[in-house]
Amino acid sequence: MSQNSQDQAPAWHNVEAHGIFPKHSHDDVARFNYIATMNKYLSQTLGEGNALAYEKRVEPKHTKTNQRAPVSRHEIRSAMNGDPFHAVWSAAKRNTMEQRQQISRSIVMPQVMDLAKKAQELISEKGNLELDSTTELPSYIASVDHHCMPGSYHTELIEGDVSAGANYDAGIFATTGGGMGPLSDGAGRAVVKWLKNNHPDFRPVRILEIGCTIGHTLLPVAEAFPDATVIGVDVGAPVLRYGAARAASLGVDNVTFVQANGEGLSRYDDESFDFIYTSMFLHETSNRAMGSVMTEVSRLLKPGGLTLHLEQPSYSEDMPLYEQFIRDWDAHNNNEPFWTTLHDIDIKNVLAENGFQSSELFVAPIAVAKPDTLNEDEPPLEDHGRAAAWLGYGAWKGY
Ligand SMILES: C[S@@+](CC[C@H](N)C(=O)[O-])C[C@H]1O[C@@H](n2cnc3c(N)ncnc32)[C@H](O)[C@@H]1O
Repeated sequence: MSQNSQDQAPAWHNVEAHGIFPKHSHDDVARFNYIATMNKYLSQTLGEGNALAYEKRVEPKHTKTNQRAPVSRHEIRSAMNGDPFHAVWSAAKRNTMEQRQQISRSIVMPQVMDLAKKAQELISEKGNLELDSTTELPSYIASVDHHCMPGSYHTELIEGDVSAGANYDAGIFATTGGGMGPLSDGAGRAVVKWLKNNHPDFRPVRILEIGCTIGHTLLPVAEAFPDATVIGVDVGAPVLRYGAARAASLGVDNVTFVQANGEGLSRYDDESFDFIYTSMFLHETSNRAMGSVMTEVSRLLKPGGLTLHLEQPSYSEDMPLYEQFIRDWDAHNNNEPFWTTLHDIDIKNVLAENGFQSSELFVAPIAVAKPDTLNEDEPPLEDHGRAAAWLGYGAWKGY
């Protein structure tokens, strides 16, 4: 296996520490640098070992035993789980996810009170937060610690808590190997770049993101359309508080963070938004919820409006089974239970079944505006479906 030039992740001190970003020490930075580089090494150089193990050992043995090659990613997974190289690789990969959570929580927990106080000051100055404690948490959120995040996006430890948001923000640069840039906002910049390149005359006046978390994707969109009213909804109060404080500290003042379930947005009138989007959101919902969300999107969108949903590509028949297997790792090892089902579904069909005409639908490749490793010249590399390049599944209403 060759040493890959991109095994070295960009140093964590490239992270832009805005006004609500948790304070951290020299040792915290060293720990994150270790995790980011270990992640990249596992994905790139050692990742090649999985393909070799499959090609040289696992696939030939399976074919000999069954008198045929594996016919699904599930068969490949159960065969690969018995391979010693893959088992060790997989355990190490899971371990980096757990360590990443431990590092950011060890940074955030000692300052949980200070962060809550600072967030409250920043938010009350701007008034950019609407919480609704009656919002019901869907079971697909309440019952899973997504990607090993203790308490997921919603758990509150103290009044006014922002720790879930701070934990998420502190560690995401390491998880993505810096691929999303210093503010981890690459998806938002990618959406803006795609809109400006492909639809330069599109001027949305009201914009909605469903499942906005702390606003990584929301803020670049709000900055690109400074005259628009931009709303991000999410079910998690601590991520919304942190997001509102982060937006205030970054000086983005046309956004409001709202606690609401995207499956039922009756607080907003029919045809009241020009642009409604989600980003890495659908894979954390469920089959049923996705349909309800799309029905709401179809109701809320103005005629001529755009809806866009960023996800990693579906497992189409054109995608080799081995690639499907490796992209599915997070579903089985990193607490992303809906990931595997979602990628069997054509999101275009979900739009078509929930109010959009087939003539209105499109799929577009959307990649991060500033690619991997903070180096403009290097394209983003694949990392088990975490590369900073997505497919945008969308529709223009009424076209
Ligand atoms: C992976 S994160 C999305 C990341 C974010 N869109 C971004 O681009 O930075 C998924 C988010 O969806 C939220 N979520 C899940 N189901 C939801 C629902 N039914 N309504 C609103 N938010 C939901 C979660 O609380 C979580 O914050």
